Amino acid sequence: MPQTILVLDFGSQYTQVIARRIREQNVYSKVLPYNTSLSVIKKLNPQGIILSGGPASVLSKDSPLPTQKIFSLGIPVLGICYGLQLMGKLLGGEVKKCDRREYGRSELSIQKGGKLFKGLPKTLTVWNSHGDAIVRIPKGFQGIAQTENSQFSAIEDVKRKFYGLQFHPEVEHSEQGVEVIKNFLFSICKCDGDWDMGDFIEIAVEKIRQQVGSKRVILGLSGGVDSSVAAALIDRAIGKQLTSIFVDNGLLRQNEREEVIKLFNDHIPGKLRVAKAGKLFLGKLKGIIDPEKKRKIIGKTFIEVFDKEVKKLGNVDFLAQGTLYPDVIESVPIGGNPAALIKSHHNVGGLPEKMKLKLLEPLRELFKDEVRLLGKKLGLPDHVINRHPFPGPGLGVRVLRDITPKCLTVLRQADAIFIDELHRSGWYGKLWQAFCVFLPVRSVGVMGDERTYENVICLRAVTSSDAMTADWAKLPDGLLRKISSRIINEVQGANRVVYDVSSKPPSTIEWE
Ligand code: XMP
Repeated sequence: MPQTILVLDFGSQYTQVIARRIREQNVYSKVLPYNTSLSVIKKLNPQGIILSGGPASVLSKDSPLPTQKIFSLGIPVLGICYGLQLMGKLLGGEVKKCDRREYGRSELSIQKGGKLFKGLPKTLTVWNSHGDAIVRIPKGFQGIAQTENSQFSAIEDVKRKFYGLQFHPEVEHSEQGVEVIKNFLFSICKCDGDWDMGDFIEIAVEKIRQQVGSKRVILGLSGGVDSSVAAALIDRAIGKQLTSIFVDNGLLRQNEREEVIKLFNDHIPGKLRVAKAGKLFLGKLKGIIDPEKKRKIIGKTFIEVFDKEVKKLGNVDFLAQGTLYPDVIESVPIGGNPAALIKSHHNVGGLPEKMKLKLLEPLRELFKDEVRLLGKKLGLPDHVINRHPFPGPGLGVRVLRDITPKCLTVLRQADAIFIDELHRSGWYGKLWQAFCVFLPVRSVGVMGDERTYENVICLRAVTSSDAMTADWAKLPDGLLRKISSRIINEVQGANRVVYDVSSKPPSTIEWE
C-alpha cells in the first residue's frame, strides 16, 4: 500500500476535488465515508486524515460524526469547513451559527505563519461556504488566520498535529490553496510524493478482482476515452472474464467501427463483440425530427441490442461503465453517507436495472485528465486518449432533420475533412470538441457554370474545461477558408459552410 491520505467524506461536493488535489501532488488519497470504523482506518495506515466539508451543521442533533478515536492515532488531522467545526466541537471548543453567513471570496489575513501557511504571503483571497463558525477553539489550539467574518479561519495544534481551515483550499478560487495542501502533505504529514497513476493501476486491479471474483463482466465500449480506459483496466484485472460489446448504431463517424476494432485488437487483448445494428436504428428513426424523440429511440434501441448480445453470452453479473467523477451528480447517498446526495449518471441509461446487473465503475473517483493519464499508463495510443467527446446518440443529434443515409454520408465526409484539417494544423488538441452539423437548409450556389441547390454544413468548434460552459474557438481565417473550400469541393451534396459563433450558455455545445 502506498503512503495514503485518508479523506473522510461528510458529503461536500468538493470531497473528490480534495482527493484529486492530493493525487496531483503524487500522494495517494482515498475517500471513505465519514463513519468508517477505526479498524478499517488502521488497516489503511494513513499518513494523515482530512475531514471534508459537508452540508450538515455540527449544531444539529443528528450531525454526521467520525469515530472520535481518529484523534488518538497520533497522525495529523486536517478539518476543512464542516471538518474544522467538527474538530472544534469534538475536542472541546464551541461552534455557533454565524450572524452573517460567509459565501464566496474573502480576504484571509494570516496572523502567525502557522505550518499550513509556510512560505505564503500574509494575505490571500480564499473561497468560503459556511453558515456556522467556531467561536471558541479547543485547548491546545491557536488561531493562525482570520477573515472579516471568521475569527478562526485557520487553527492549529502543532503538538497534536491537528489543523483546521474554515475556507476551501481545494477549490480553484482559493489563492495558493494548492500550496496550503502541499504544506499539509509534505511538512506536516511527511509524505514522500512518490505515488503515480501506475500505482493506481495496481490498486484498481486488486479492487476489481475482489469485487468481481470469478463472475463475468460486460462493458459497453463506445471507443471514447472513458470506456476504452475502463476496458483496458478491467481487462488487466480479470482478462477472460470481461467481454466488451460495441454497438454500431449506424450513427458513427467515418471509419469509426473499424478504428474501434483496430484499437481493441492492437491494445486490449480481451474479447470484443461487435453488434452491427445500423439498419435497425435507422429503421426506427425513419421520419423522426424531434430531438428528444430521437434520443429516446436511440437509447431504447441501444438497450435492446445490448440485451440481445448479453443473452447470447449467458450468465453475466456485472456491467462495467467508464463513469467518471464529473458524471456523478447529486442525488443518492455515496458510500452509505446520508449527508451526501450523489447519483451515478448511467452512461447507458436504465441498463443495470433492466438486466439486474451489478455496476462496476473503476474510474468513478477520477477526473477526465486523470483518466487520460491512466490510459497512457495502460499503453493506449495518444489518438484514443486525446479524442474529443462524442455523444451517445452520435450523428443522430447532428443531423437536424429526419435522418437518412444520404444526410449521414454528407455529414460524415464533411466531418472527416474538418477533423483532418484540425489535426494537420495542430488545432485538434487545443479544442474540447469540434464537429460538423448537417443543417436542415438548402442553399443556392454556383459551381463552374452550373447552379447548385444543396445542403449547408455548419462547423462547431469549442473550448471548454468541463462542457458545463464553453466558448466558440477563434480558428484562424486561413484554416476556416481551407476547411470550407475542401468541404464544398470534396463533398457531393454540400455547397455552403457556416461557422457557429455561440457560447454555452446560452447555447449548448450540440445543436440538438
Ligand atoms: P451540450 O450539448 O449539452 O453537451 O452542451 C455537453 C457535452 O455532453 C455531450 N453530450 C452527450 N453525451 N449522451 C452523451 O453521452 C448524450 O445524449 C449527450 N448529449 C450531449 C456533448 O457532446 C458535450 O460534450
